[in-house]
Amino acid sequence: MKKIIANIKMGQTPSETKKYLMTLASKFDDEIKELTICLPYTSLACGQYLLSNTNIAIGAQNLSDEEKGSYTGEISGAMLKDSGVKRVIIGHSERRSKFKETNKLINKKIKIALKNRLEVILCVGENLIDKNTMKTLDVITVQIEECLKGLYENELENITIAYEPVWAIGTGKSATIKEIEASVSAIRKAVAHSFSQKAGDEMSIVYGGSINVKNIASIIKAKGLDGVLIGGSSLDVQNLLYMISLC
Ligand code: PGA
Repeated sequence: MKKIIANIKMGQTPSETKKYLMTLASKFDDEIKELTICLPYTSLACGQYLLSNTNIAIGAQNLSDEEKGSYTGEISGAMLKDSGVKRVIIGHSERRSKFKETNKLINKKIKIALKNRLEVILCVGENLIDKNTMKTLDVITVQIEECLKGLYENELENITIAYEPVWAIGTGKSATIKEIEASVSAIRKAVAHSFSQKAGDEMSIVYGGSINVKNIASIIKAKGLDGVLIGGSSLDVQNLLYMISLC
C-alpha cells in the first residue's frame, strides 16, 4: 500500500482546513492508498469532526517530550490521541534547525508517542554541507541509530521513516531517484545494524522534499520506497488529489 502524507505545516487556519478537508473527504475514496493529513494543532478538532468516518488519517506535526504537567504551550501525546490523531511527524528538519531539536530529544518524543499509541513519522536527512562533503549516508545513519535507540524491534512496525534532505525541502529542488535510492538503502542498512536484517528489509520509508505534480510519478517508483511526504504542493487540494492519482 502506497503511503501519502501531506504536511500542512503552519499553512492553514481552521476555516481553511474545513474547506480543504470537505473537498478532500468527498473526492478521496482510494482503498489501496494510505492518506494522512498532518494538520496544525488548531485544526485537529476540525479534522476529527470531518474525517472520523473516512479512510483519511489525521496526523500531527509535533508533540511534547513530556507526558503531562506545567509545560505552558505544549501539546502532549495523550492530547493528540484524544483528538483523533493516528500519526505524528517527529524530527522534521524545520524543528531540528529552527527549534534546535536533537536526536536525543527526538528519541524521547518517539518513545512518548509510541507509549500513547501514536504511529511515528520520523524525519531524517542531510543538509547541503553534508551533501557537498559526501557525508549524506553517514549523517542519515547516525540519525537513525540515535533516534531509534532503546526501542524494541516490534515497535518499528509503528514507525515510518521519512527521508527528507534538508536542501530539498521547500526549495523546488528534489533529490534525484539515484540519491533517493542510495539513502533508502542506507536507512535500511542502519535499521538492520541496530535491530535485524528483517527489520531493515521491512522498514517503511517515504521520501519528502519538493515533491510536485511533475516529479511525483517518477519519485514514487524509486526502488525500496513506500510512499511520499508532500509539503507545499499539498496545500492546494486539487493538486493533492491529482498527485494522489499519480501514485
Ligand atoms: P516541501 O516540504 O514538499 O514543501 O518541500 C516537505 C516537508 O517539509 O515535509
